[in-house]
Amino acid sequence: MANKPVILIGNGGHATVLTDILLQQNCSIIGFTAPSIQENRFGIPYLGTDDVIDSYNSDDIELVLGLGSIAVSKVREKIFLQFKEKGYTFSQVIHQSAVISPYCMLGEGVQVMAGTVTEAFVEIADNTIINTSSSINHDCRIGKHCHIAPGTTLSGNVTVGDLTHIGTGSTVIQNVQIGSQVLIGAGSLVLRTIGDNSKAFGVPAKEV
Ligand SMILES: CC(C)(COP(=O)(O)OP(=O)(O)OC[C@H]1O[C@@H](n2cnc3c(N)ncnc32)[C@H](O)[C@@H]1OP(=O)(O)O)[C@@H](O)C(=O)NCCC(=O)NCCS
Repeated sequence: MANKPVILIGNGGHATVLTDILLQQNCSIIGFTAPSIQENRFGIPYLGTDDVIDSYNSDDIELVLGLGSIAVSKVREKIFLQFKEKGYTFSQVIHQSAVISPYCMLGEGVQVMAGTVTEAFVEIADNTIINTSSSINHDCRIGKHCHIAPGTTLSGNVTVGDLTHIGTGSTVIQNVQIGSQVLIGAGSLVLRTIGDNSKAFGVPAKEV
């Protein structure tokens, strides 16, 4: 949870979900950034493009990255690293209904949405999204800048590399390794290792 007033980057669907969580937790939201002036459904003020963040002291605020993704995307990584280099901190956002073992390690800026379960000895690296109703079972290790889309199940001891997208409603069986920059299509059943930089989908999932 944010310890300082927050600036939200983005104003789309993912940002909407995050804003809802932040407001329910009584976080102070200074405003949001977006490429052009936009209305916000919660009445959060528009601050300007992302450059406006530079005018805030990095000790006084935290950032929340509100851009989602529907496939492998380096945009979230780029923005995260750009502001980390300038000394800013990204707040974790964790919905109050998320069940998270105290024996987990969650990196900076990790977002864990409503109805998720994250079990013991799971490691989730920086800037990764565990989206609504996902289940991350014991000993899973998930890399940086990943998106585990809504309703996904990772069984025990699954590893996922950086920048990987696991599509909505997928299931991965135990001990499987999924590489970096992998796109798993929605509704897939992953039974075997999937190598780096690949796309796979279906039941069972096949690389394409
Ligand atoms: C896998 C995916 C990226 C493919 O997208 P695409 O490359 O644009 O592919 P297309 O939609 O053109 O479909 C190509 C073929 O693959 C099939 N296909 C696409 N996605 C599929 C999936 N997840 N499972 C099974 N078949 C799939 C299509 O039916 C189509 O088959 P056809 O040629 O026999 O008609 C996309 O369908 C997907 O699942 N994206 C993930 C979405 C997601 O997780 N969103 C989260 C939002 S929070």
